[in-house]
Amino acid sequence: MKVVERIYLRSREERLRILKEAGYNPFYIKADDVYIDLLTDSGTAAMSDSQWAGMIETNQAYAGSRSYDHLKKAVGEIFGFDLFLIAHQGRATENILFSTILKRGDVVPSNTHFDTTRQNIISNGGEPVDLLIEEGYDPTSLHPFKGNMDVGKLVDLIGRLGSQRIPLIMMTITNNAGGGQPVSTENIRKVSSVAKENNIPFFFDACRFAENAYFIKKRESGYSSKTIREIVREMFSFVDGFTFSAKKDALVNIGGILGTRDQKLYERCKNKLIQIEGFESYGGLACRDVEAIARGLYEGIEDEYVEHYCQQIQYLADGLKAKGIPIIEPPGGHAVYIDAKRFLPHIPQEEFPAHTLAVHLYLEGGVRCMEIGSLGFAKKVEGRWVYPKLEMTRLALPRRVYTKEHLDYVIEVVARVYEKRFELRGFKLVYETPELRHFTFKMEPIQPLK
Ligand code: F0G
Repeated sequence: MKVVERIYLRSREERLRILKEAGYNPFYIKADDVYIDLLTDSGTAAMSDSQWAGMIETNQAYAGSRSYDHLKKAVGEIFGFDLFLIAHQGRATENILFSTILKRGDVVPSNTHFDTTRQNIISNGGEPVDLLIEEGYDPTSLHPFKGNMDVGKLVDLIGRLGSQRIPLIMMTITNNAGGGQPVSTENIRKVSSVAKENNIPFFFDACRFAENAYFIKKRESGYSSKTIREIVREMFSFVDGFTFSAKKDALVNIGGILGTRDQKLYERCKNKLIQIEGFESYGGLACRDVEAIARGLYEGIEDEYVEHYCQQIQYLADGLKAKGIPIIEPPGGHAVYIDAKRFLPHIPQEEFPAHTLAVHLYLEGGVRCMEIGSLGFAKKVEGRWVYPKLEMTRLALPRRVYTKEHLDYVIEVVARVYEKRFELRGFKLVYETPELRHFTFKMEPIQPLK
């Protein structure tokens, strides 16, 4: 490590005040007030010397920068795609894609849509549908690919609606909203053939493609001697396109890519891109950031690096399990997800147990994280809230940032909260927005915190 960032551990009294001032919303806590930041693995990676150098070495131009050619080469060599567009981050690629191909009443199936994907489908007149296998909803199931799509349910859906109402099938690799769980090549192949038979394009939400490839290497027969790069190439050979937040597996702080094999779709999306993001040569980024993505894509598929990152998650998971802490098993790719239903069995979902735990991890030791549960994924159906099956507190690990000592500290903080778990009380919302409320909410504790 050749560059370091100073971090600060505020006192408990200060943390109490900070939480209150933030409305108990971790997104409103200042980064300077966070000791270990596990809020997200997105845009938080440490960039390499080569990436930083590349940002200086490339030429900064509105059009025709060599960074575009470098990215074109990387996207071609790594994903096998010639047609692609750059955008400022993943959700912009989602909006460009869905606003171009969705019509009102369309349905978009996935294993599990992530929150921004879901919202971009809804805002463009469509309906997102999750078709995860049942094991994916069981925190204790040791199924090796709990991100798989239920192919039977997919066939049923197409049979019921007809392919005209399904403009594309998506698959999130790895499945972030379902515990960071991977999808097998076998499942990708099956979904791809159903898509082909029905003439429906098949797209990846590819944010964490490298970790998905790692789990295929480790858990699927026939892949142990293949490199991550070879597996990635095979995975992408089954899809017609992909949306991608480069802020995860391209090891950069900003950026997104939309890939397609369809020239007509490419042209339509390009027009939209120029209208809302920028010319195709930079897509809303500085050309310098484009260069960092081009280099980061190669670094992000190096076997040694991916192995190290996924082993860090495993280390954190093992440490928590050794203290008796219930997690989603087996641990996924970019985060350890604590099973808040078992951690806080006395707090009902309408009082946000996963969020309660996130607040207490900050209060106890300055560890920031977020919930993926009843705050982000509850749905109002006919005036009543329907809560998600999984209620999780996500400890997401920034790439190439933390050491074993940091992880040991996190384990200790979670264990301290676990010891007094039955003293914890839930939260109530005092402010929420109709969409994406988990970013903007304000809450109050049901009993004052001490
Ligand atoms: N798809 C998935 C599966 C994601 O996890 C994210 C972002 C996006 C799309 C959107 O990408 O942030 O570049 O616009 N996930 C981050 C997270 C924010 O913390 O999990 P973006």
